[in-house]
Amino acid sequence: MPALSQTDPSSFSNPEDVLVEHIHLDLTVCFTKHTLSGSVQLKLKRVKPEAEFVVLDTRGITVTSVVDLESAEKLQYTLAEKVAVFGSKLTIRLTNRKTEHTIEITYETSPECSALQWLRPEQTAGKRQPYLFSQCEAIHCRSMIPCQDTPSVKAPYTAKIKAPSVVKVLMSALLEGSEKTEDGQMVHSFRQNQPMPSYLIAIVAGDIVSKEIGPRSKVWTEPELIEAAAYEFAETESMLQAGEGLLGPYVWGHYDLLVLPPSFPYGGMENPCLTFVTPTLLAGDRSLADVVAHEIAHSWTGNLVTNASWSDFWLNEGFTVFVERKIVSRLKDSEVYRQFLASRGWRILTETIKQLGAENKFTCLVPDMLGVDPDESFSSVPYEKGQAFLFYLEQLLGGPEVFEKYLRAYIDKFKGKSVTTADWKAFLLEYFNTEEDAGKLATVDWQGWMYEPGMPPQKPVYDTSLAENCEELRNRWLGLSDDQLTQFTLSDIEDFQPMQIEQFLSGFADHDPISCAKVKHMGEVYKLNTVTNAEIKFRWLQLCIQAQHEPIIDEALQFVSDQGRMKFVQPVYRDLYKWSASRQRAKDNFLAHRNEMHNITVAKLEKILDVKK
Ligand code: BES
Ligand code: ZN
Repeated sequence: MPALSQTDPSSFSNPEDVLVEHIHLDLTVCFTKHTLSGSVQLKLKRVKPEAEFVVLDTRGITVTSVVDLESAEKLQYTLAEKVAVFGSKLTIRLTNRKTEHTIEITYETSPECSALQWLRPEQTAGKRQPYLFSQCEAIHCRSMIPCQDTPSVKAPYTAKIKAPSVVKVLMSALLEGSEKTEDGQMVHSFRQNQPMPSYLIAIVAGDIVSKEIGPRSKVWTEPELIEAAAYEFAETESMLQAGEGLLGPYVWGHYDLLVLPPSFPYGGMENPCLTFVTPTLLAGDRSLADVVAHEIAHSWTGNLVTNASWSDFWLNEGFTVFVERKIVSRLKDSEVYRQFLASRGWRILTETIKQLGAENKFTCLVPDMLGVDPDESFSSVPYEKGQAFLFYLEQLLGGPEVFEKYLRAYIDKFKGKSVTTADWKAFLLEYFNTEEDAGKLATVDWQGWMYEPGMPPQKPVYDTSLAENCEELRNRWLGLSDDQLTQFTLSDIEDFQPMQIEQFLSGFADHDPISCAKVKHMGEVYKLNTVTNAEIKFRWLQLCIQAQHEPIIDEALQFVSDQGRMKFVQPVYRDLYKWSASRQRAKDNFLAHRNEMHNITVAKLEKILDVKK
């Protein structure tokens, strides 16, 4: 493999020689060709005076020219052969000897650009206009823009985007204005003043409208969903304030939300100024808004303080889950609830490690990413092992009050920067430097937590009162025989929080399958067949498949066809594939829907279902 960057094994770029300091995009969206075309201007800073080349990441991009903007001189460049996943390294010979200067690259993306999904009008809720959205994290930005596609580099950006006037265009930036062009299209101008990594550049174009949900927040989505979305995310401002109370000022100006079409592969994506979320959050009762708390938390952990490489991904996600749970429990004014969520996280970690195998290198908190596709290694491990590590350290070092002061100091220290796990650890030791704290920190098994696969070396202590109710009810179901089921009634779960119902259902996975008579009865008394909360529905389907309750197959296939959130789609397909009664139908269903699905989801499902490309 050609030399990858010295600091980031997922990038070819050479920021240690020449650094991108500002990005300006001038692009046209073409819905018929499925391309973005135009140019990117990169303001470069020469870090090493003798540097002759700037090396950029690209994938599937056609470059037509590179010029030095000051002299208008054409620059020589070479586009290396494509390396799977990482793309083609673009090497540009610099002639301008100034420390700071700007180059312009004229290019076009390919219709297969992995960062973009192009939807036909029929694939949208309104079926009127086509739709385009991006997903750059982790290393897809290079398929949309030639850039230093490493989170160790941060730059502000501006953009001018030309698109048909029937679509609205938004980016992970503030909209400065829109103008009609001579050919009847529109040009929209955007500005992002905060330095940010390439994976946070985002674009959407479609038939979307907005509704105000707070003093600095709007929700955007197709007209069909706008009222439901505004209702669901009404707590956004309270969450922002809770975040500010914990970590300091929100620096990004607006915090808007975009509810995407159902094929969006993630629960949420923290694109600055405009979080992207899946429509599966629209439960109708605000019960899934914790995903918004998560994306809000990224405004500090991830977007302000950023992981320096994808090996340090836990610094983004583990921290964010930790802060998300603080925000959610502040809104509920319940530390017991935070402890419940954290213990539920430990459960998820156990489940994930069981599925991946305790020897699997991706179960390390800080995995070696050389030659690894970050989409491949993605799992709950950095989220839940990372949050467990912080939860454990918080308890060790004196509890929330003490630890929250540290969190704020951490943000203050590293805001605007990218950090490695070593930077993180050094600052922790520097902050907790009394003899007493140093003594406590000396007891931590750093090697085990950070670099060894499998479950962590220590389990934190959790308040288990909310989890116990779920377990008691589950044990009753497990203990009784099929002719004793009439004693169960809806009142069993009436006082449960939605996440407790989810916890009650998910725990059955640790036991032998229950009978079909039991799942049938449970579905009826607890009204699980009509549940609107996607997390509960997901666990319910898994339980029914585990019980081999055949009538559930249609329902499960419907669920994985109606939405493409990988967190749900992957495990449900995996379960359907394992069961002989549904294996072929799962394959057929995937093949029938594959063209409508997001490319990242397709790649994962091809492996799970053993379907050749
Ligand atoms: N940044 C992630 C999504 C992501 C990670 C996309 C890596 C691509 C590569 C986002 O903040 C996230 O974690 N989403 C979760 C939300 C959940 C933990 C509340 C999701 O999508 O499920
Ligand atoms: Zn996240």
